[in-house]
Amino acid sequence: MPLDNSGLREEILKLKEERHAIILSHNYQRDEVQEIADFVGDSLELSRTASTVKCDVIVFAGVNFMAESASILSPEKTVLLTELDACCPMADMIRVDSPRPIKKSFPGFDNPPSYVYPAEFTLRDIKAGNPGVPVVTYVNTTADVKAESDVCCTSANIVKVIESLPDEKVICIPDKNLAMWAARNTNKQVIAWDGFCHVHERVTPEDVRKARAEHLGAVLMAHPECRIEVLEMADHVTSTSGMLRFAKASTAKEFIVGTEIGLMYRLRKENPEKIFYPLRKDMICPNMKKTTLKSILRALKENNYIVKVPEHIRVPAKRALDRMLEIK
Ligand code: 13P
Ligand code: SF4
Repeated sequence: MPLDNSGLREEILKLKEERHAIILSHNYQRDEVQEIADFVGDSLELSRTASTVKCDVIVFAGVNFMAESASILSPEKTVLLTELDACCPMADMIRVDSPRPIKKSFPGFDNPPSYVYPAEFTLRDIKAGNPGVPVVTYVNTTADVKAESDVCCTSANIVKVIESLPDEKVICIPDKNLAMWAARNTNKQVIAWDGFCHVHERVTPEDVRKARAEHLGAVLMAHPECRIEVLEMADHVTSTSGMLRFAKASTAKEFIVGTEIGLMYRLRKENPEKIFYPLRKDMICPNMKKTTLKSILRALKENNYIVKVPEHIRVPAKRALDRMLEIK
């Protein structure tokens, strides 16, 4: 007989206790997944929690780079990714190795990064073309890319991370939108990569005009993975948890939300007296939605899918993550 959600929940809670496990969920997960998680947060909060939480098993309801980071930071724990193919297409847009080093200038920006490298290049190409320039790597990358980087960042701390470096020039990979936004907010020269998040990249200035016309006076929050022309039209640009904090502290009553719709669950739950409208209803990350309560139960029961990073990659990748986590 199929279990309803309450049956599934009960089984998960029982197994979780038996296995001394903790469930971590990203803010974009399904409502019921966020509801059963021990901790729900943005990428930075999840990395911090993974590095400090006391447990034997971390069940990661998110996408693969997040579980990888948890395993890099806490190698003594069993880290389980709830769905094997829950990936981040942006993370797959940059690889460490491959041929063809060409540079392409990026037109149309007053304060642009010097270059945006197209995605057919490799991280080694960009490093070879810019000797000595530190690499600031968005956590939305694979472990081997992190291992070749100087320091990691998230959408919540990229400006702080760049400013913590003594260098005047930095390489920011792989999200061109996040890199350009960071370039606007620091005095440093930023060399970017041509990666993007398909969920945020699809939002256009026309979508912003339409949403603003439909919800007059609503405050527009946008994630820095949106295009720079969209970010310029926003009232507040921040990470997913940054939006939660901003909406709570704001005296405004209505908000347009420029990020994946999974965040609406916490926004509405934590601010029942306020109204939240999605900037676009189709801002849905299919990979974030792969995890269900059934996936969590299966992960705990069958002990899969174990994420383990080989030591020769884990150690340098941890250095880049630790350097980020040291920045308060
Ligand atoms: P944050 O939750 O860190 O803002 O990240 C958004 C994202 O796209 C994660 O994949
Ligand atoms: Fe990757 Fe975008 Fe999905 Fe985040 S929302 S996991 S960046 S595709």
